[in-house]
Amino acid sequence: MAYLLRSARYLSHDVLKETVQPGDTVIDATMGNGHDTLYLCELVGEDGRVIAFDVQAQAVESTRQRLTEAGVMNRATLYHMGHERMDEAGIKDVSAIVFNLGWLPGGDKSVTTLWETTKVALEKALSLLKKHGVLLLCAYPGHAEGDRERSEVMKFLASLPPQQYNVLHQRFPNAGPGAPENFIIQKQ
Ligand SMILES: C[S@@+](CC[C@H](N)C(=O)[O-])C[C@H]1O[C@@H](n2cnc3c(N)ncnc32)[C@H](O)[C@@H]1O
Repeated sequence: MAYLLRSARYLSHDVLKETVQPGDTVIDATMGNGHDTLYLCELVGEDGRVIAFDVQAQAVESTRQRLTEAGVMNRATLYHMGHERMDEAGIKDVSAIVFNLGWLPGGDKSVTTLWETTKVALEKALSLLKKHGVLLLCAYPGHAEGDRERSEVMKFLASLPPQQYNVLHQRFPNAGPGAPENFIIQKQ
């Protein structure tokens, strides 16, 4: 089948498919409706671990239901807690961490990720990554907070030392000003 260049989020799934191995520990920093959490559960397999965070009970419930229906809930630990506290989960040597910023699709648009907490979470996430581990971040500049968050993410990632991290930025320049953008960071 032809390779389809679909969206920023699918591009990050392609990277996950190449980097996550069965048995790995990974983090979904923004579980939302659990689509990424489920994908990660499939990639880590029976012996892997997916740690997921969200500040909304509705997101945790929706994800729990999705994983239970797929028969993979035993691979995941779901925290009703902000990702800025991810260090409290007591894990390390993480091979992939996914941030899908913004608000819960179909949910309350006033509950969106905010740069102040995203920054703390990114700093902690980078410290939890193992060598050659990847951090994938999808930003949505199509609304005021999303636009601010995307600019701050860009500044933060551009300042990372290239000896320690490879940073890649992907965007679709003909998809309009609010189109989602992808950032891929790999620890050296
Ligand atoms: C775009 S959605 C994520 C979609 C999800 N990846 C999926 O596959 O369905 C963003 C989520 O981030 C959550 N969120 C907002 N602030 C957060 C924080 N500080 N920590 C963790 N999650 C947060 C929102 O509640 C929302 O569910």
